[in-house]
Amino acid sequence: MIIPIKPWLERASGVSGQLADWGFPAVEGAEELRSGSIQSGLEVKAHHEDKRMEFYHQPILAREILAALEPVKGKQIFDGTLGGGGHSEVFLERGAHVVGCDQDAEALEYAERRLAQYGDCFLPVRGNFSDMDSLLRTLGIDRVDGVLMDLGVSSHQLDEPSRGFSFRQDGPLDMRMDNRADFSARDLVNDWDEAEMVRIFRDYGEEKRAVRAAKEIVKAREQKAIETTLQLAEIIERAVPRVSGKHPATRVFQAIRLAVNREMEVLEAALNNSLEVLSEGGVLAVISFHSLEDRMVKRFMRRHSTPFIDRPEWPEPRENLDYCLTLPTRRAISPSGAEIETNPRARSAKLRVAVKLED
Ligand SMILES: C[S@@+](CC[C@H](N)C(=O)[O-])C[C@H]1O[C@@H](n2cnc3c(N)ncnc32)[C@H](O)[C@@H]1O
Repeated sequence: MIIPIKPWLERASGVSGQLADWGFPAVEGAEELRSGSIQSGLEVKAHHEDKRMEFYHQPILAREILAALEPVKGKQIFDGTLGGGGHSEVFLERGAHVVGCDQDAEALEYAERRLAQYGDCFLPVRGNFSDMDSLLRTLGIDRVDGVLMDLGVSSHQLDEPSRGFSFRQDGPLDMRMDNRADFSARDLVNDWDEAEMVRIFRDYGEEKRAVRAAKEIVKAREQKAIETTLQLAEIIERAVPRVSGKHPATRVFQAIRLAVNREMEVLEAALNNSLEVLSEGGVLAVISFHSLEDRMVKRFMRRHSTPFIDRPEWPEPRENLDYCLTLPTRRAISPSGAEIETNPRARSAKLRVAVKLED
């Protein structure tokens, strides 16, 4: 593969590190946001003709992400969750260079075609964002000005029955984002022992009926192997009552997906790795969709943005050796009512942003 390095080296000086000018609360007044000129690229609907699959992804919190990452010419951004390429496209439209990483071959293939017009400014990479330091090093890139992680699965992955994420449409029990992985949802529900399933249903799904759900799965698989998403959804419906309109299998499916893709371990590694690849003034932006992820991101950002630590047993506060971030806003940013109206999947999104201090 020939790697188009040159454009990546032509970094305009003085672009990164404008923390002082950034001031997150001022974002609402930013010219671009006021003029509403970020329409193109915010809504994506495209057809992948040969496979008859549809990618539909409105990049979530796009305005806020733009305000945070300021993707101007000369900046280099690592988009760890390329997906349909929605966020990457809005960065590229503004002149930034983007390394777009996804572990899903279908997403990469689609986004590569969609963003081909940006030539050398866009570099697609298949990999896991937890390896962002080695992925970037392989591309000859030392530091980037921004890292984005828009966590979880894409609309395409959710809506495509053959990927096995959905409890609404039948498909093989799969749930792997990376089809090179040798462990799928089918392996988990058929091979794991009951106690292990209870643990992940509780820890990753926050499912109160974890024990009942795991028992029902074990009972069912003694009769015959559990092969499909609807088969599993029906088994869980027998154990978990329907409350507040939510499908009873929601939490268990989430737990299985997180376990199959090792999403919590991977997120932790990626957060730590982002500190290695961000340049001074570089921005880390993470969009999460459930409380487990958001808690991990919040704790990570707090731990690295506290200059001193105080403990009751210490005579005085001590310097925090992990201190290397500053938080433009301590609170998570949620989508506006208008965004939720046009894109209901944005409903539970939370964006957290941190800026890297000097090395
Ligand atoms: C929510 S979608 C991203 C959508 C994208 N921001 C857009 O605007 O089109 C998440 C994507 O990230 C990918 N992904 C999730 N976890 C990943 C990981 N650990 N490493 C690489 N890609 C990951 C998924 O395969 C999926 O395509």
